[in-house]
Amino acid sequence: MPVMVFFVLAMAFVVAQAQQMQSNISRGSSLTPTTNSSWLSRSGVYAFGFYKQGNGYAVGIFLAGIPQTTIVWTAKRDDPPLPTNVTLDFTSDGFSLKPTPGQSFVIEYTSGSSASMLDSGNFVIYNARQDIVWQSFEHPTDTLVPGQRLFAGDEMFSAKSESDPSTGIFRLKMQADGNLVQYPVNTPDTPAHAYYASGTYGRGKNVTLNFGADGHLYLLNDTSSNIKNITDGGLPADQATIYLMRIDADGIFRLYSHDLNHNGSKSIVWESSKNKCDPKGICRLNSYCVSVDLDVECKCLPGFVSANLGNKTSGCRRIIADVCEYKNETFPNTMEELQSTIWEDSSYADLPLSDREACKRACLEDCNCEAAIFNGTSCRKQRLPLRYGRRDVGTPNLELIKVAISTTTPDTEKRSKRKGRTDILIIGLSLTAFGSILVAISVVAFCKHNSWSYGRVNIPILDSELNEDISLRPYTYEELEKITNNFTEEVGRGTSGIRVAVKRLEKVAAEGEKEFQTELKVIGKTHHKNLVRLLGYCLDGPKRLLVYEYMSNGSLADVLFTPDGKPSWEERMRIARNIARGFLYLHEECDTQIIHCDIKPQNILMDEYMCPKISDFGLAKLLKADQSRTTTGFRGTRGYVAPEWHRKMPITVKADVYSFGVVLLEIICCRRNVDWSLPDEEAILDELAYHCFETGELGKLVGEEEVNTRQFERMLKVGLWCIQDEPSLRPSMKKVLLMLEGTVDIPIPPNPISFLSTI
Ligand SMILES: *[C@@H]1O[C@H](CO)[C@@H](O)[C@H](O)[C@H]1NC(C)=O
Ligand SMILES: *[C@@H]1O[C@H](CO)[C@@H](O)[C@H](O)[C@H]1NC(C)=O
Ligand SMILES: *[C@@H]1O[C@H](CO)[C@@H](O)[C@H](O)[C@H]1NC(C)=O
Ligand SMILES: *[C@@H]1O[C@H](CO)[C@@H](O)[C@H](O)[C@H]1NC(C)=O
Ligand SMILES: *[C@@H]1O[C@H](CO)[C@@H](O)[C@H](O)[C@H]1NC(C)=O
Ligand SMILES: *[C@@H]1O[C@H](CO)[C@@H](O)[C@H](O)[C@H]1NC(C)=O
Ligand SMILES: *[C@@H]1O[C@H](CO)[C@@H](O)[C@H](O)[C@H]1NC(C)=O
Ligand SMILES: *[C@@H]1O[C@H](CO)[C@@H](O)[C@H](O)[C@H]1NC(C)=O
Ligand SMILES: *[C@@H]1O[C@H](CO)[C@@H](O)[C@H](O)[C@H]1NC(C)=O
Ligand SMILES: *[C@@H]1O[C@H](CO)[C@@H](O)[C@H](O)[C@H]1NC(C)=O
Repeated sequence: MPVMVFFVLAMAFVVAQAQQMQSNISRGSSLTPTTNSSWLSRSGVYAFGFYKQGNGYAVGIFLAGIPQTTIVWTAKRDDPPLPTNVTLDFTSDGFSLKPTPGQSFVIEYTSGSSASMLDSGNFVIYNARQDIVWQSFEHPTDTLVPGQRLFAGDEMFSAKSESDPSTGIFRLKMQADGNLVQYPVNTPDTPAHAYYASGTYGRGKNVTLNFGADGHLYLLNDTSSNIKNITDGGLPADQATIYLMRIDADGIFRLYSHDLNHNGSKSIVWESSKNKCDPKGICRLNSYCVSVDLDVECKCLPGFVSANLGNKTSGCRRIIADVCEYKNETFPNTMEELQSTIWEDSSYADLPLSDREACKRACLEDCNCEAAIFNGTSCRKQRLPLRYGRRDVGTPNLELIKVAISTTTPDTEKRSKRKGRTDILIIGLSLTAFGSILVAISVVAFCKHNSWSYGRVNIPILDSELNEDISLRPYTYEELEKITNNFTEEVGRGTSGIRVAVKRLEKVAAEGEKEFQTELKVIGKTHHKNLVRLLGYCLDGPKRLLVYEYMSNGSLADVLFTPDGKPSWEERMRIARNIARGFLYLHEECDTQIIHCDIKPQNILMDEYMCPKISDFGLAKLLKADQSRTTTGFRGTRGYVAPEWHRKMPITVKADVYSFGVVLLEIICCRRNVDWSLPDEEAILDELAYHCFETGELGKLVGEEEVNTRQFERMLKVGLWCIQDEPSLRPSMKKVLLMLEGTVDIPIPPNPISFLSTI
């Protein structure tokens, strides 16, 4: 019997000790998550100590004795949950955790001697002289309790979610300018990002947010005059009702009451907004917020999908990534409409247009324009990403989004729609002409192994002729010399201030001044987003120079063969498709069929949007309308030239297809076609590629990168078809593009050199 009594008493002792009513906690005390887990305030309303969080524990202040954990403050809120076996020790310079290497202190101060969980909800640490060395009121997280103040410069941050106290995506700031403002995190304190403001700007340098026990939230100025009531207060302030103000995870700040007589049941007394779409950034980039019943939904812009499939909060990306410039060809851009939405005004141009179609055209014509806000009187052009989007039925705004559409979609209705759009696009193009020329200069001086004659050219006649036809700008040699600092400068600046790339053709020899001029004229007339634009030329005695638009990202070789920062697989596929589009245009869509003859990564330049542009037509052959082949002297670069060049066979567009195939293999494998730093049997990529394809050892080609094997194999097959020795076996560029886009099946390619070996 005595044993039983002792046992019962022991039980009672343990229960009582689990939450100690101790208003004076002395140094050396400790807490553990399971026994002696917290210290209560004298009234028993607040507790400091461990509370359950996720699959572990966190240290903080919470309302005691109510079933639902109501957290008021959390120490080190961004640290992961703590395991059951930790101990929180009260030492003289902090509250430290044992045994948790790496995050020893959860609270730091100097010379702490005693601590107290006050009835106000403030956890205070004193030194031996009873001065406060630390208090939780000065380190608010997402909640204010009555009596706590927010001083000028102080900020509070929302939690990630109701169950995760770590720092979320919204903040409330008591600004030194007197305004109490809400913003998303990581934004400057500017009106463009604000979504709530008390409207007390300029009312004092030390305006404070104050919170009365009766639920009164108000602002006091420097001389403690009430300058604004946020909530009225005057609510019952009995012992059983606790008011808390919290910035919720959804970005709205609310005043709650907790009825301690009813298990702490909580109700909303006031909220900064009833519209859950108000907090800016509630929906991520390129998506907009729509209120659905009492909840919100984030929807993607038309033509966009969730960047992270099935996760609406992660933002949206384009379905077809590729709208870097206005397109005339098979993948035209169109403007999709989205009614009644509001976005951050990040426009870079504001056009006074009152016609919606004109606004669409203005955006289509401008490579920089990715979207436009049209409100009936103005057309504001914007770049992506768009943010802070939300539906607002009252706004006159019409958001117009540039979207690329694929003409390979078998949807006939779409096709006919697109026809109408194309007409608009054509009008657009004639308007733009040279509108979007880039602004910078770099010099590319290089030698041609192909020779040209030194024949004299009558510059004035050529000038007028060229100007009439193609509005190319003639330059004098001296001019270019000056621009490029005697051809030594990497980057120079033209007289007009636009940046251009200057290419010097050397050893211009017999094959023909005439051909040079013809090529200049024809290339000068090509307009395609994947061809570099020729802007001017210089014909000065024997000197031949070409002036191109400047490409800020160098060449494809720079992009592919630099060890760091190589583009992702998706990006590389996009680049390959764009190069193919450029060649499709040269081969099949120009009045004069053009064979480039010198395709290699060094000749494919990358613009600021990483959109590839084919350059260097110095060796190109132009075929007349009735011509489909040509015989000509050797051109091109070893490693990339088709075998027919060596065999003195007629040259067709299929020679370009061969070179494209080699470049495609380089793009998918991210290595040079010929690389003697590798073992001999791996040095030649086009030979290795077929071997690996045949034996299924794709890993040898892929390297360390993680790629989708099925996609990789498809691309490999395209490459192998392109590098067939027999030109007639190689697909046309049109076919290549369809294969790259995945719209046609790709048969198993034969061994590229099997044809040769049978001769
Ligand atoms: C807390 O206790 C310590 C010693 O036990 C004492 O020196 C100190 O004055 C007490 N503090 C308060 C606020 O009562
Ligand atoms: C709880 O803390 C008190 C005083 O801090 C101590 O005397 C007691 O032994 C502790 N209980 C347990 C189970 O650690
Ligand atoms: C404490 O628990 C964690 C996991 O819960 C474990 O990894 C660690 O070894 C434990 N430490 C001690 C001292 O028992
Ligand atoms: C702001 O005012 C409060 C009292 O209203 C005062 O305690 C605080 O020290 C002041 N802060 C500054 C920076 O003046
Ligand atoms: C504070 O507000 C009161 C009342 O609006 C005003 O009279 C006083 O000048 C203000 N004080 C300061 C320092 O702005
Ligand atoms: C705020 O409310 C109190 C009463 O609670 C009132 O006396 C005061 O004038 C109000 N202040 C303002 C700026 O409206
Ligand atoms: C508190 O909650 C418990 C169980 O969750 C319930 O039995 C009790 O009736 C509640 N008390 C009040 C006052 O609501
Ligand atoms: C959705 O994405 C966000 C941000 O990218 C991430 O924090 C969140 O955990 C994701 N949610 C799900 C359900 O995957
Ligand atoms: C656009 O393409 C079509 C067909 O490819 C062609 O007929 C038309 O001339 C092109 N327009 C311009 C302005 O280049
Ligand atoms: C449209 O936007 C312009 C520029 O932002 C603005 O000046 C104009 O008032 C707006 N018009 C309407 C009808 O909202």
